[in-house]
Amino acid sequence: MALPWTEKYRPTSVTGFVDNGKALRQLDEWLTSWTKGTPRKKAAFLHGPPGVGKTVCVEVLAKAHDFDLISLDASNYRTKNALERIVGAASSQRPLFGVKGRLIVLDELEGMSGSQDRGGLSTIARLTKTTGCPMVLIANDVWNPRFSSLRSSCFVIKFQRVPARSIIAHIRKICVREGVLAEEEALSLIAKRAKGDLRSAMMDIQALSQGKSFLAYEDVRWLGDRDRQEAIFTVLGRVFNAKTCWEARRAVDVADVDYEMLFEWIYENAPHQLSNIEDLSAALDALSRADIYFRRVRAFRAWKLLKYAFDQMTAGVAMAREKSPRRWVSFKFPQRISVMSRTRRTRRLRKELGLKLGATLHMSADSVVRDVLPYLRIMFSNDDAAATKLMDTFDLDETLVAYLRESGG
Ligand SMILES: Nc1ncnc2c1ncn2[C@@H]1O[C@H](COP(=O)(O)OP(=O)(O)O)[C@@H](O)[C@H]1O
Ligand SMILES: [Mg+2]
Repeated sequence: MALPWTEKYRPTSVTGFVDNGKALRQLDEWLTSWTKGTPRKKAAFLHGPPGVGKTVCVEVLAKAHDFDLISLDASNYRTKNALERIVGAASSQRPLFGVKGRLIVLDELEGMSGSQDRGGLSTIARLTKTTGCPMVLIANDVWNPRFSSLRSSCFVIKFQRVPARSIIAHIRKICVREGVLAEEEALSLIAKRAKGDLRSAMMDIQALSQGKSFLAYEDVRWLGDRDRQEAIFTVLGRVFNAKTCWEARRAVDVADVDYEMLFEWIYENAPHQLSNIEDLSAALDALSRADIYFRRVRAFRAWKLLKYAFDQMTAGVAMAREKSPRRWVSFKFPQRISVMSRTRRTRRLRKELGLKLGATLHMSADSVVRDVLPYLRIMFSNDDAAATKLMDTFDLDETLVAYLRESGG
């Protein structure tokens, strides 16, 4: 339940693998060739954009070929010594009969940064020639000059972006499994925005359908496609560059943009558009007044106040510009919207825990979250006996326990 869908629906066999069939086949054949002897190229280099199944592909094939997978990412093999200790040893011998062959994976090669790792890369280059077991390297960009020697010593396998129709089919299947009824337009907008990155489409669909049994296009719309972004850019351009109040007020008429959304856009972009600190401060004042009006509109259904909110948000912001030069600065997508939507579940669980523990500990929910949760997390992941006791004391249900056991969060 607490699992990210990218993990929950991570393929465990080749049948669950979506698209990139050619790459899968190439890797499969190369691994098969190891069962008949040592192939000419003893290392494969998988490359392609993020979230298209490079890592997963190796996992499912290792399983299919019954290899012992030794998987490392750059944080484990940053230095030459570490590489020699871990990878050198593992790759030096061919296993005896009856023992599973090993498959060494060095994932996220890009993570080896800077000059101090140069020794690392040349060690890897040497290992790709001397290894006694198959070795797979993974990176996004094989054409990075740092990988030039690896390009020639490895069997290079290219992964492609996942086509939108495959992404749609995949997330639709997930929705069915999760009991979420999703509008087709919602799915295709998510797929379109993912631009071939299946992982990010899966993260979006999970974030957006959290706690819902019906996902409408409306729920997804704010992710915005190109047209909408252009519409909003026009509005923003007019708000930030209007020379008169009237002009600024008129800006919002040109597009049907949700007012809360527009507020987020203006708020996000004000610091970039108004370089003078006093101008910015005046604009933020205007936005804070707009925010107050919006709250009253929502709380008391006082629609009459809406126009004051609009005035503050448009004319108020436009008139804030006194010293900031007018120059072209690209608009930024409101971070708050994406962050809030991705973190909704976490925030809800945290609040629930805060209230629950606070009642027993006589603390406010906020201070529980700040001062108590970090320790609980450690106890829950390290000490089962203590965890059980705490669970009873505070009467925590499975969801809350699962949340406390998650790392990071
Ligand atoms: N081709 C694919 N088939 C099935 N699932 C995929 C595929 N590509 C990505 N995924 C999903 O996205 C997650 C991340 O995939 P991963 O293999 O780590 O991507 P990469 O290594 O290319 O960045 C997986 O856990 C899986 O759920
Ligand atoms: Mg990966």
